Amino acid sequence: MSVSVPFNQSSQQGNELDYIHHTISNGQVAGDQTFSKKCQSLLEDTLGVQKALITTSCTHALEMAAILLNIQLNEEVIIPAFTFVSTANAFVLHGARPVFCDIRPDTLNLDESKLESLITKQTRAIVVVHYAGVSCEMDKILDIANYHGISVVEDNAHGLFGKYRGRWLGTFGCLATQSFHETKNITCGEGGALLINNEKFIERAEIIREKGTNRTRFFRGQVDKYSWVDKGSSYVMSDILAAFLYGQMEKWQEIQKKREKTWERYDKELADWAEQNGVKRPVVPEHCDQPYHMYYLLMPSGEHRSKFIAQLKDRGVMAVFHYLPLNSSNFALQMAEKGWQKFECPITENVSNRIVRLPFYADLSEDDQNRVIDSIKNKI
Ligand SMILES: Cc1ncc(COP(=O)(O)O)c(C=O)c1O
Repeated sequence: MSVSVPFNQSSQQGNELDYIHHTISNGQVAGDQTFSKKCQSLLEDTLGVQKALITTSCTHALEMAAILLNIQLNEEVIIPAFTFVSTANAFVLHGARPVFCDIRPDTLNLDESKLESLITKQTRAIVVVHYAGVSCEMDKILDIANYHGISVVEDNAHGLFGKYRGRWLGTFGCLATQSFHETKNITCGEGGALLINNEKFIERAEIIREKGTNRTRFFRGQVDKYSWVDKGSSYVMSDILAAFLYGQMEKWQEIQKKREKTWERYDKELADWAEQNGVKRPVVPEHCDQPYHMYYLLMPSGEHRSKFIAQLKDRGVMAVFHYLPLNSSNFALQMAEKGWQKFECPITENVSNRIVRLPFYADLSEDDQNRVIDSIKNKI
């Protein structure tokens, strides 16, 4: 059967196409033009971060974080085993060894109670991922990190406009990263941002993002020519994409409202069914305001999950699984033969096997959502 309810669908939420037209007709198609600056200001003003830099992806913003933290060969970076490869790769590219921390069975976030046992003299950073935009336990994590003098980076790919104890996600780490990939709440297809919460990183971040040159200072008229001054790469987003992104960003409250309604409806409509079938729904602690990034279910077993996905597919509904454990990935096992430590992460393995994500996007209609819900209720 052809897919009638996709897992994700991109949409126009406001003036995206007008803004693209505007940027092309004004000849502002390279980076750091009007719309990039508008996106950055909106992030800075809304979240209260010291500096936001729009980048080509969240992966690249994470790479910038690795360079900014001066991660050296064989230094250790603690990350959750249940995350996207970029959380690890960005640091591995710069010589780090990933130390995989298992996750909590409730929020599926890095288990802060395991952190102390993973910290060594080589530990340089803890990279937290707010899974589904539900915050990690930041008080405890920051206490531990501060005690040991370790940096905290937030991979906030899922968490834009989420809060922990009333404070925006992305404002806790010295650095935080955002994704605007097509599956995210606010998107331009491919894109990201680096959020900077410590002034000492700002100037170097501008240089790293501009191929290791002081071009940004040159554009501000602070130097009369620009030259090679540091390591760097090409992490600047084209203003064509930034124009699309700003069209979405300025509608963020409306987008969030739509997503909240969809999320709450899934949760309410599936509550009894989940209870009766041994299926777990997402846990959102009271002190976390989630940004409604995804709706997932934890099936009783991997077998149940495969059957569930196949049954929904038969009814034209695309449900998908999520991260495979990084600690037992081919690459980590290969590197273990070359000296990387091995890590057991049983909760990650278990969750990775059982999780399923339901279709979720800003313009998911009530009819299509009903189709998902009905397909689930009739078929397990
Ligand atoms: C937690 C996490 N970090 C990083 C990324 C990478 O984001 P991007 O595709 O913008 O590089 C993703 C991708 O979805 C992700 O889920």
